[in-house]
Amino acid sequence: MVEGSDEREKIGFYAETYDAAVPDWPGEMDFYQKTVDQVTSRGEAVLELACGTGRVAIRLAQAGAKLVGLDISSDMLAVAGQKSAGIDSIRWVKADMRAFELEERFGAILIPGHAFHNLLTPDDQAACLACARRHLMPGGVLVVHLDHQDMGWLGDLVRDKGGVFVEEETFERAKTGRKVRALRAWSYERSTQTAICRTRWEELDAKGDVVESRDEDPLRLHCLFRFEVEHLLARVGFEVEATYGDFFGHPLEDASPQMIWVARRPQAGSGKRDGAVLGTGG
Ligand SMILES: C[S@@+](CC[C@H](N)C(=O)[O-])C[C@H]1O[C@@H](n2cnc3c(N)ncnc32)[C@H](O)[C@@H]1O
Repeated sequence: MVEGSDEREKIGFYAETYDAAVPDWPGEMDFYQKTVDQVTSRGEAVLELACGTGRVAIRLAQAGAKLVGLDISSDMLAVAGQKSAGIDSIRWVKADMRAFELEERFGAILIPGHAFHNLLTPDDQAACLACARRHLMPGGVLVVHLDHQDMGWLGDLVRDKGGVFVEEETFERAKTGRKVRALRAWSYERSTQTAICRTRWEELDAKGDVVESRDEDPLRLHCLFRFEVEHLLARVGFEVEATYGDFFGHPLEDASPQMIWVARRPQAGSGKRDGAVLGTGG
């Protein structure tokens, strides 16, 4: 059962097929597991923001973590709830990651799977980070997994590739046993650093003919750049501990595919700023 929502009978196609369509990033689960093991060994709990279907959270809970997963989507949480039936150490909360208030405080907060890109303005991003900081114990760790923007790809989108549908992945839909082809048309708004994604799913029969085609509402994602993130974290009162270019701990470099940020809420009395932060509600 999900706190703050009615359970839904009908789950949308995106939530229903999310796990089949989105594989783990290389090294991702080991990276999160190591972070969470330290927290669990101190008896502290973990919060995952924008947890979706529990792709990450459920395995961490199965490995011994006490976990809260928060997401704004009833459909994603309904899938998470079904998948985690019988796991007592996990709790789902329907809330907006920009404005939530839980009674618990956490040893770690994770924002996996590029979910932070859903926040489109500096105020929304800072509001989310301030909420996260408020829910961390002093010394607690925040991990944010972001895309490392590919300038060649963004450049192509503003030239001739913008708005053109291309096949990005195929997966099997468990409900029908049919193959689904995901086509995406991306475009990029330079003035707001927003990538806009239109997705079309084509469900295929055994001969490869399209039996059903579904168009998703356009999704707007903010493209974050390295020093923008550094400024955001500083604005909200986080100390950056590390910035990686993948989940194997390699430093962020030009060719890095990902940006993984590890930041801490300063310890109380460390001399570092840990009071309320102006303009963030923190
Ligand atoms: C790409 S999915 C990632 C899910 C999960 N973190 C993972 O790695 O599999 C993005 C998730 O962000 C959630 N989301 C978007 N905006 C949100 C918000 N303002 N507050 C909470 N969740 C949000 C969506 O509902 C969706 O489940």
